[in-house]
Amino acid sequence: MVEGMTDQAHEAEGALPGKPTAASRTTLSHIMTGSETNLYGTVHGGVIMKLADDAAGAVAGRHSEGPAVTASMDEMVFLEPVRVGDLVHVKAQVNWTGRTSMEVGVRVVAERWNESTPATHVGTAYLVFAAIDESGTPRPVPPVVPETDEDRRRFQEAQIRRTHRLARRRAIRDLREQRPGA
Ligand SMILES: CC(C)(COP(=O)(O)OP(=O)(O)OC[C@H]1O[C@@H](n2cnc3c(N)ncnc32)[C@H](O)[C@@H]1OP(=O)(O)O)[C@@H](O)C(=O)NCCC(=O)NCCS
Repeated sequence: MVEGMTDQAHEAEGALPGKPTAASRTTLSHIMTGSETNLYGTVHGGVIMKLADDAAGAVAGRHSEGPAVTASMDEMVFLEPVRVGDLVHVKAQVNWTGRTSMEVGVRVVAERWNESTPATHVGTAYLVFAAIDESGTPRPVPPVVPETDEDRRRFQEAQIRRTHRLARRRAIRDLREQRPGA
């Protein structure tokens, strides 16, 4: 179970060799069209979330060298609206790895498709993917090897999010056990 696992598990004997962050880093680009808008005429947040999940899934699959499924998505922050005609770039990389899971960080930037103006940072998301085998059982992933100061900062911040996710799950589980049937 999640609660019983230690984050040092991937350092155990027989662990897979590490892979650098850059080996799976990916950018997915897409021009926004009129079919992707909300009632206010800007791009629907769910469309951006789908792109984030797609890019993160590609990164998780590349890093783990096989199937990987979205276990959770948190902290999807929208900073600026995305408009029709924006060329959106969804940049994704593995921030952190556990034994069978990976946190993938996604940074979304947008620029006008036909202008050479600076791109705007429109959103950020953090997703957890679990690598699975043919039967859907979680399988070990290679530990990610952060190479730059930025990668190391992201690794440390991802560890903080991981700690909070596990603590939140544990606290909710404990509360429900104290209040059976509530
Ligand atoms: C994700 C899934 C494989 C986890 O299976 P499980 O039996 O709970 O397995 P575990 O408890 O061993 O968890 C596996 C890993 O995922 C992590 N994990 C599981 N649920 C998580 C969650 N909600 N948030 C963050 N991490 C999670 C665990 O911490 C563990 O990581 P670790 O090995 O690095 O420590 C399973 O719940 C699943 O298949 N979910 C559906 C995924 C899916 O279909 N996604 C697409 C949505 S349509």
